[in-house]
Amino acid sequence: MPRPFYLTTPIYYPNDVPHIGHAYTTVAGDVLTRWRRLWGDDVFFLTGVDEHGLNIVRAAEAQGLAPQEFVDQTSPTFGETWKLLDIANDDFIRTTEPRHHQAVQQFMQAVYDNGYIELGLYEGLYCYRCELYYTEDELVDGKCPIHGIPVEQVREENYFFKLSEFQDRLLAHYTEHPEAVQPETRLNEVLGLIRQGLRDFSMSRTSISWGVPLPWDPKHVAYVWFDALFNYCSAIGYGYDRERFDHYWPADYHLIGKDILRQHAVYWPAMLMAAGEAPPKCVFAHGWLLVGGEKMSKSKLNQIAPADLVAEFGVDGFRYHFVVDQRFGPDGDFSYEGMLARYNSDLANNFGNLANRVLNMAVNFVGGVVPDARADGPLADAAATAFERLQEAMEKLDFSGGFGAVWDLIRAANAYIEDRQPWALHKAGDATATAEVLGDCLETLRIVALLSSPVIPNAAAELWRRLGLPGRPEDARLPDAARWGGLPAGSRLEKGAPLFPRLEPS
Ligand code: MSP
Repeated sequence: MPRPFYLTTPIYYPNDVPHIGHAYTTVAGDVLTRWRRLWGDDVFFLTGVDEHGLNIVRAAEAQGLAPQEFVDQTSPTFGETWKLLDIANDDFIRTTEPRHHQAVQQFMQAVYDNGYIELGLYEGLYCYRCELYYTEDELVDGKCPIHGIPVEQVREENYFFKLSEFQDRLLAHYTEHPEAVQPETRLNEVLGLIRQGLRDFSMSRTSISWGVPLPWDPKHVAYVWFDALFNYCSAIGYGYDRERFDHYWPADYHLIGKDILRQHAVYWPAMLMAAGEAPPKCVFAHGWLLVGGEKMSKSKLNQIAPADLVAEFGVDGFRYHFVVDQRFGPDGDFSYEGMLARYNSDLANNFGNLANRVLNMAVNFVGGVVPDARADGPLADAAATAFERLQEAMEKLDFSGGFGAVWDLIRAANAYIEDRQPWALHKAGDATATAEVLGDCLETLRIVALLSSPVIPNAAAELWRRLGLPGRPEDARLPDAARWGGLPAGSRLEKGAPLFPRLEPS
């Protein structure tokens, strides 16, 4: 039986247009799920949009539209962007969908029936962009610590979720499962938050009607985070297909940015426990992608649209950069110059050159067919090491380390060519040695195409085809497919245009 593997991205607010910060999380999720599919897992990869809340109401008002009209116009741009970036998500959830409303209502009812929701009066400071309450001491210069905008004094009758009752259970959970929040620094942050003491939080609103009505008191709608977090369950069947829900739940990974750690690692597991459901296996919070040292935001006008970079670097060039350039965890700075330099060195030079020169030589020197394989060429060890390192790194979501190992294999193959000089062997009439060296390189190319396919799916598939292999790399299965010697002798090779043409600064 294939192992279920369930991974989610945050659902993005469609009052913003998709930018490279959103793409950063989504591409990472796509790479990891493509990798798990290579292992034959039963993968479910979910992304979507968070369409409720005050920030959507206000954005709609600003355009003179009803909230539903507004999200109907803006949400599709997320789906289109993921299509452009070759994101192979299995579902795209919108929180205005009936399946979601129905599931959230059942969930809230369960939490209510279990006694974890009660009526109270709320007075507090609210940031409508975060959709979060803050205390005075959490503010920076009296403003929201994330958005830097003034917070608003809010007073209303709300239902409260009794988060305070979950302090011990959450601590016990994270003691037993320290892997449930990663990287470790984020776990420490979460433990700190829990140990400070947890306050009940308000889970309903009467000041707006845009949201999911509470089934037992429909003049209240669910607080947007209460409804949004539940997308992870409503998409896989909660409330309408229990069997499917049980098959995929608990999620293997919720990939998120560090800005929404508290909601995912404190609120969310407690909400699930309150309904008698299991908490997620791992919340992985990565850092921010900064532009000029600052987080991208509409107000700072420093957002970069994925399409602008795709036009120049191609889809694979885009994906490669955001996954491999920086470690997935800490903050990282985006720079166009850095992206260009890495594209030229890693993709145009290392990857592109290896593919080009090997295929060219094979067509010119050995008749364009794969020579008989050597059971154990000198590159076989390097290939085995690359696979092992990639495997280890992917367990830790260390994409730069993992694909760095594949690029080490590429460098090793380029060095091997420099060393053995197949053109000289050919010129000297040594057909056996020429075939051996090129056979080793072709087999290395097959393994490179396979292992790099999660991050550069298009170039990998094209290389696969030029190697005369049937289907696409994603049809192959690990670990067998990574073993040395998989390229059938006699396959017809094809040379072609450079896979990654060198780029000049635009
Ligand atoms: N709608 C909520 C999430 C609900 S999940 C149940 C939300 N949406 S958001 O549109 O603001 O996007 C949040 C996520 O987008 C971040 O957590 C992060 O994953 C990604 N990013 C947005 N800007 C980013 C950067 N500048 N850098 C990296 N990731 C960024 O919060």
